[in-house]
Amino acid sequence: MSDAVLETELLTKKYSRRVVVNQLSLKVERGDIFGFLGRNGAGKSTTIRMALGLVRPTSGRVRLLGHDMSKHPLRALARIGAIIEAPAFYDHFSGWRNLRMFAAMSGGAKTERIEAVLDIVGLRDRAHDPVRVYSHGMRQRLGIAQALLPAPEFVILDEPTDGLDPQGIHEMRLLIRRLRDELGLTIMLSSHLLFEVEQICNRIAIIDQGRLIYQGSIEELIAKTTTIKLTVDRIEEAYQLLSHNPKLSVSRNGDQSLYVIMADDQIPLVNALLVERGFRVMELSPQRETLEQVFLRLTQNPATTEAKN
Ligand SMILES: Nc1ncnc2c1ncn2[C@@H]1O[C@H](COP(=O)(O)OP(=O)(O)OP(=O)(O)O)[C@@H](O)[C@H]1O
Ligand SMILES: [Mg+2]
Repeated sequence: MSDAVLETELLTKKYSRRVVVNQLSLKVERGDIFGFLGRNGAGKSTTIRMALGLVRPTSGRVRLLGHDMSKHPLRALARIGAIIEAPAFYDHFSGWRNLRMFAAMSGGAKTERIEAVLDIVGLRDRAHDPVRVYSHGMRQRLGIAQALLPAPEFVILDEPTDGLDPQGIHEMRLLIRRLRDELGLTIMLSSHLLFEVEQICNRIAIIDQGRLIYQGSIEELIAKTTTIKLTVDRIEEAYQLLSHNPKLSVSRNGDQSLYVIMADDQIPLVNALLVERGFRVMELSPQRETLEQVFLRLTQNPATTEAKN
C-alpha cells in the first residue's frame, strides 16, 4: 500500500476560463516535511483548499490519508490540522479561550489537550493574555496550536512564516521540526522563504502557473544542475574548444570565466584536454546553486528573461 498522506491526480481548477491549477499530481509521503513552492498566484492556496475539500476541483482527484475526498471527506479531515493564510481569532479573548471556543465548535477538547498544544508552540506563559496584545509570531503559533488540537497526523500550513522577523522565522523552523521529530507528524508547508525551505524540507514541489515543474528531493534538484566555473588564460580559445563538445554546455558571463554544465565524470577529461592544449587552468570549481537560484531560474517567465538579456 502506498504510504502517501496526500495524493493528487491530475488536479485541475478553472475559474471561468482561466486555469489556475493545471493537471497537478502531487504526492506527500508519511514523515515528509514537504515544501510547496511557487510565485504569488501560482496556485498553491487553491491546491491546498482543494486538498482539504474547501474548493471543488474542476477535474482530477484528491486522496487524503487514503480517503477519496470526493466521497469521504470527513473521514480524512478528522485526522488533519491546517492553517490557510492568516488564522482568525477573537482578539479580545485570550489564546486559551480562543482554543477552548474553537474546540467547542469542532467537537470539544480536554483542558489537558489545550494546555498540551499551548506547550508545544511555546505559548503557555502567555496563554491568558488577550490575543490583541500578541505579536504576529505569537498569533502564527496560536494558529498552529489550533491546528494541533485534534491531534492530527498530517498538518498543512499555508505560509506559516509569512511576515515573521528572522527570530520568528527561526522559532517557526524549530517548531515545525519538533512537530515531525517529536510528534511524528507529516507536514506540508507553502512558503516564499526558500532559504528556510532548504533548511527544513526533505521534499518539495515547485509549481508555476498551476503546473508542476519539479517534485522530488532538494538535493536531486540542486545536484542535477552542477555548473563548473572555469578560469583559464586565452578564454576565447577555450570557449571555442569546449563549445564544440556536445557533452558540454558552455556559457560566458562577461567575466574572465566560463561556466560549463557537465556530468561529474567529464570534469577530469576537460581538465586534461585544456592542459594538453597548453591552457593554464587557474580555477575549476563546482558552483552549487542554492534552492533560491534554481527556483528563480525555473520559474522565470520568458518575458522577464528577455528583458534581462
Ligand atoms: N475564488 C476565486 N475566483 C477567481 N480566481 C481565483 C479565486 N481564488 C484564486 N483565484 C486565482 O487563482 C490564482 C491562484 O491563486 P492562489 O491563491 O492559489 O495562489 P498562491 O500560489 O497561493 O499565491 P500566493 O503566493 O500569493 O499566496 C490567482 O490568479 C488568483 O487570482
Ligand atoms: Mg497563497
